[in-house]
Amino acid sequence: MRGFGFAEHGGLDRLAYVEVPEPVPGPGEIRVRIRAAAFNHLDRFTLAGIPGVPIERPHVLGSDGSGVVERLGGGVAGVSVGQRVLLNPGLWDGVCDACRRGEEALCRDYRIVGEHTQGTATEFVVVPARNVHPIPETLSFAEAAAVALVFQTAWRALTTIGGVVTGQRVAIVGAGGGVPTAAVQVAKLLGAQVAVVARSDAKAPATRALGADAFLTIDAEHPLDRVLWQWSEKQGVDVIFDSVGAPTIGRSLRATARAGRVVVIGATAGPTAEIDLRTLFWRQASIRGSTMAGAAEFREVLARILDGRLHAVIDRVFSWEHAADALARFDAPDLFGKIVLTVPP
Ligand SMILES: NC(=O)c1ccc[n+]([C@@H]2O[C@H](COP(=O)([O-])OP(=O)(O)OC[C@H]3O[C@@H](n4cnc5c(N)ncnc54)[C@H](OP(=O)(O)O)[C@@H]3O)[C@@H](O)[C@H]2O)c1
Ligand SMILES: [Zn+2]
Repeated sequence: MRGFGFAEHGGLDRLAYVEVPEPVPGPGEIRVRIRAAAFNHLDRFTLAGIPGVPIERPHVLGSDGSGVVERLGGGVAGVSVGQRVLLNPGLWDGVCDACRRGEEALCRDYRIVGEHTQGTATEFVVVPARNVHPIPETLSFAEAAAVALVFQTAWRALTTIGGVVTGQRVAIVGAGGGVPTAAVQVAKLLGAQVAVVARSDAKAPATRALGADAFLTIDAEHPLDRVLWQWSEKQGVDVIFDSVGAPTIGRSLRATARAGRVVVIGATAGPTAEIDLRTLFWRQASIRGSTMAGAAEFREVLARILDGRLHAVIDRVFSWEHAADALARFDAPDLFGKIVLTVPP
């Protein structure tokens, strides 16, 4: 079957339509005919090559996908062929200590569709039945593809890891990315006062429309820690959701309240940074990492998407022929939300 991805790691010039074997569902698995896939910044890292993550080539990109159940492996019940579904791209083994405790996000063998396995930008994807979730007619395939990875990430990071409760101050670093546009909505739903911090004010109206209480711009004269300190009336911020990394993490820490948390879920702009340990202990702050979500967390956030309390933010939908433009779009300064690819039936 055809897919979109690459045969060799590298830059955008390596993107290509590739041929990969059609996957066959084994016991407990479901094959889904993909109608829409969505990309994440992760796809750019996978294309470039992630140290320590060996992948099969040619490789199909895409972690997010939605479509129609096409074939059931042995022993699968509860869904039927033809049903509209979305995929949870988080894969866990279900047998390790963490999985048995119900903490699938900490699975010893945790993997992500499209990174560790062939992705969703193709005709058919096979996943365990527990990764397949029915969707109502009211949710388009594009919307369904746009929610799974970013919302579960924002949900776990702000609830289980960040411990956000009503009335707390939450700051999101970056405005238009897939994860930030989900995190703003989740933080508001949790009852937080939410500020988004970005390098220009161009995305302020769209960000406020998602519910953000404040939109703060940063530059050399107005660094992140100072604008957040001011916003928090010199109390500091309870939880800072940072996916940017090297240029922001040290300043995020400096903007924390006493016992505040910086939750790191990515390092888009660089993986190594310096922090001032004195801030860490004097504020009794913490820096915590978070990745994806467990099965229960996924169901919690999906329920809020299906009942309309959280919604997909779509930057643009690309047709199959323009898949390479979709991956290039991550560099666009006006990016706002998720990049979706339609897969013709
Ligand atoms: N741990 C996990 O489970 C998990 C899950 C999802 C994503 N991630 C990681 O999280 C990151 C974001 O993913 P994504 O798909 O949302 O990416 P994306 O759509 O490309 O968004 C990137 C965001 O980073 C912001 N940004 C980039 N450089 C910046 C800088 N120097 N200063 C301030 N903001 C900057 C952009 O802000 P503006 O819009 O304001 O320009 C944008 O909001 C990636 O590194 C990804 O790998 C991790
Ligand atoms: Zn496990």
